[in-house]
Amino acid sequence: MAAFHLAVGSVYGAAEHTAEQLAAYLTEQGHQVQWIEGDDPQAIVDAAEGVLLVITSTTGSGDLPDTLAPLFFALRERFPMLPGLRYGVIALGDSSYGETFCGAGRQFDELLAELGAKRVGERLQIDACETFAPEEEALKWLPQWLSQLEPQPVNAD
Ligand SMILES: Cc1cc2nc3c(=O)[nH]c(=O)nc-3n(C[C@H](O)[C@H](O)[C@H](O)COP(=O)(O)O)c2cc1C
Repeated sequence: MAAFHLAVGSVYGAAEHTAEQLAAYLTEQGHQVQWIEGDDPQAIVDAAEGVLLVITSTTGSGDLPDTLAPLFFALRERFPMLPGLRYGVIALGDSSYGETFCGAGRQFDELLAELGAKRVGERLQIDACETFAPEEEALKWLPQWLSQLEPQPVNAD
């Protein structure tokens, strides 16, 4: 069982709804779920005790939603090294936006990698051109993503 820290960026609610569905699944499976609120980068540092899952749509031209952008910029400013942090990214976007497709998820992924965090599996990109139900794609992806999480080392003390 693991503790999952969820950071969510959403404008119109699709990413938020997706995150709620994932949280319900994780809870059913016996995991802990903690929602990251606000813009204190310490919440990302603290997530290293478990696993971070970033779930974000993209707005503007490859931009992060206002619900997640302050945390992203504060994290980039403080720039804590996070070698012990494992994370996953679910990016919602629309491929008709071309080069900025899923840009917010990509930016968060790149920042975490720069900070030394380790992504588990591939980033999931969900295209609004292909589905009206992003939560269904995310729920299909989740079990195989969970299976890639290595067991946490047991403290023998
Ligand atoms: C004004 C606006 C700008 C958008 N810009 C992008 C973009 O640059 N890249 C992208 O992949 N999707 C873009 N999208 C698509 C959204 O990311 C996508 O529809 C997503 O599913 C919305 O999720 P949400 O309801 O959680 O905000 C944009 C949507 C809107 C309405």
